[in-house]
Amino acid sequence: MPDSPLPLPPTPASNRPITVAITGAQGSLGQALLRRWHGCGATLIALTSSSHPLTLKEANGQPIPVRQVRWRVGEEAALTGLLGEVDLLVLNHGVNVHGGRSATDTALSLEVNALSGWRLLERFAGVVDARNQDSDRPRAEVWVNTSEAEIQPAFSPLYELSKRLLGHLLSLRSLDLARSLTIRRLVLGPFRSSLNPIGVMDADWVAGEVMRQAGWGCRLIIVTPNPLTYVLMPLALLGRWAYFQVASRGAPPGDEEGTVPLRNRDR
Ligand SMILES: NC(=O)c1ccc[n+]([C@@H]2O[C@H](COP(=O)([O-])OP(=O)(O)OC[C@H]3O[C@@H](n4cnc5c(N)ncnc54)[C@H](OP(=O)(O)O)[C@@H]3O)[C@@H](O)[C@H]2O)c1
Repeated sequence: MPDSPLPLPPTPASNRPITVAITGAQGSLGQALLRRWHGCGATLIALTSSSHPLTLKEANGQPIPVRQVRWRVGEEAALTGLLGEVDLLVLNHGVNVHGGRSATDTALSLEVNALSGWRLLERFAGVVDARNQDSDRPRAEVWVNTSEAEIQPAFSPLYELSKRLLGHLLSLRSLDLARSLTIRRLVLGPFRSSLNPIGVMDADWVAGEVMRQAGWGCRLIIVTPNPLTYVLMPLALLGRWAYFQVASRGAPPGDEEGTVPLRNRDR
């Protein structure tokens, strides 16, 4: 496994390794990213909706230590305590109902691909804001895996709709949340996994490219064989940024951003 530059250095005072939590941990990219971060010396938390134990091994067969934590879409609040330990949160879970368009498929796509990711983003930002006085920690990061389907057809309308919603929410909320968090958007083309068995790229190679671009400091990480995405995605983000700046405003001073709907949910 090639060495990747480390986007987040160990904390200066304690030299504690950074803690990386990844959703969709049992999936192809989730496992590949966990292995890459293990190669960087990170402490790993696998956030998974599955009850199956996750066994990760290095190339030489050595087991990779990983703490497995089960979570369920809609129960993001239960992760609040755990998020307090996390330096980098990778929102990577996703589902593709392919040609489905039933009410059930619609609800599943919106909840898994868009709304749960947005809720975890808000919750992590709230946790980071509360602990920001702790100078011993590196600046927290969140990586959001939206997909090339944000701007390209994926021959799966609900996948496109839900990933576009996640992408737009990320653009809108980044205007405020990027003050306390480093936010990187992963825009990936087709790679092989159970979500896309005919993807042309290899998940481990994609994970390596993601790590490389993050190490360069890129906030927009694009890995795809489609050259149009490299042109259209930055333009789309620029247009959104300008429109959202002009047509929206942040919470008034003193208002606890993002806590009201979450507080209502917790009751
Ligand atoms: N494959 C592609 O061509 C491609 C292209 C661009 C972007 N992406 C995105 O990359 C991410 C990783 O996908 P992948 O290709 O590695 O697919 P994958 O192997 O199917 O992994 C996706 C993972 O998401 C989690 N997940 C699925 N349904 C869920 C649910 N109802 N609730 C909570 N978690 C659920 C599962 O992990 P757990 O069992 O651990 O919860 C699953 O293994 C996804 O967000 C996908 O949209 C994929």
